Amino acid sequence: MRVFSGIQPTGRAHIGNLLGAIHQFTDLQNRADCLFCVVNLHALTLPQDPAALRADTLQMAALYLACGIDPRRSTVFVQSHVAAHAELAWLLGCEATYGELGRMTQFKDKAAGRDSVSLGLFAYPVLMAADILLYAATHVPVGDDQRQHLELTRDLAVRFNARHGEAFVVPEALIGQAGARVMSLQNPAEKMSKSAADPASRIELLDGPDTVRAKIRRAVTDSGREVRYDRTAKPAVANLLEIFSLLSGEAIPALEARYGDSGYGRFKQDLGEAVVAALDPIQRRHEELIRAPDHLEAVLADGARRAAALADPMLRTVNERLGLPG
Ligand code: TYM
Repeated sequence: MRVFSGIQPTGRAHIGNLLGAIHQFTDLQNRADCLFCVVNLHALTLPQDPAALRADTLQMAALYLACGIDPRRSTVFVQSHVAAHAELAWLLGCEATYGELGRMTQFKDKAAGRDSVSLGLFAYPVLMAADILLYAATHVPVGDDQRQHLELTRDLAVRFNARHGEAFVVPEALIGQAGARVMSLQNPAEKMSKSAADPASRIELLDGPDTVRAKIRRAVTDSGREVRYDRTAKPAVANLLEIFSLLSGEAIPALEARYGDSGYGRFKQDLGEAVVAALDPIQRRHEELIRAPDHLEAVLADGARRAAALADPMLRTVNERLGLPG
C-alpha cells in the first residue's frame, strides 16, 4: 500500500482538513508507505503574496508534524522541491481534455465571478493527478470534495496506460465515513473552507482558545432546542455533533444522551472546550517547530530527496513511453 496526499498551504488549515484528511494520514502511516506533500504549486492557481506563501508553506509542514505525522515513518515534503510534479503535469495535460476539465465542479466554483481565469486554475486537477501518479500511489486519503479529482486521476492513468503502455498504478480514493465533509459553522449547506470570506465559518487549527469559543458560540443551530443527530432535519446540530464526536472520541449516541434535552447552551459550551483541548497540543508543537525551524527544514530536505528518488524513475518511464529522449 503506497499512500499519497497533499494539502494546500494557504495559511488557514481548519478542522475540516484535520478530520477529513490529516486524521486518516496519521492512522495510515502505521500500516502503509506514506508521502504527505505541501502542495504549494497548487496554491499558485489563485493570487498569492510571495512572503506569505513562503511562511504558509513552512507552517503547513509544521502542522503536519504537529498533528502527529512522523517524518521517520512518512515522507513529508514540499511539492516545488520535486520538479517532476510540474514536468509530469505537462505530459498528462496533453492527455486530459478541455471538456473533462471544464466539468470539474471545483473549477466551476472557483472560476465563478472572476473576470479572468488562469490556465493554472483550469489545469489544477492535472497537477493533482501528476502528484499521485508520480509515486505509483495505490491509495489517496482525502475529504469528500476531492472525489471528482480522484476520478479524473484514475481516468488519466487508465487512458495513458492504454495509449502508451503501462506506466501508472490506478489509485483509489480513501474517503472516511465520518469527517469527510465538515460543514461551515455559519451555513450547514456549505462545506467548511479556507477560502470562505467569513472566518467565523471555520475553526482554524491555529485559532486561540477564545476565538474557538466565540466561533462555537456564534455557530448557527437549527430550530427547536433538542440536540439530536439528524443530517436532514437538523444539519447544523448534526455537524456540531460530528465535530464533537471526532475530536473527543465519544460516540454520537453518548453525546445525544448527555445533551439531548438540556438545550444548545451547555452543548456548545462543552463543545468549545473539547475543540480547545484537541487543538492545544497541536498548537504547542507547531509553535516549537516554527520557533526553531532547523529541524523542520532538515525534515523537508530529506523528504524532498526521498520523494525525488521515487519520482525520477517514474518520470523516465513516462518520457520513454512518449518517445522523449532520455
Ligand atoms: P485542500 O488543501 O483544499 O484540502 C486538504 C484536504 O482536506 C480535505 N478537506 C475537507 N475534509 C472534510 N471537510 C471539509 N470541510 C474539508 N475541506 C477540505 C480535502 O478533501 C483534502 O483532502 N486538491 C487538494 C490538494 C491536493 C491533493 C493532491 C490531495 C493536491 N494534490 C494529491 C490528494 C492528492 C486540495 O486542494 O485540498
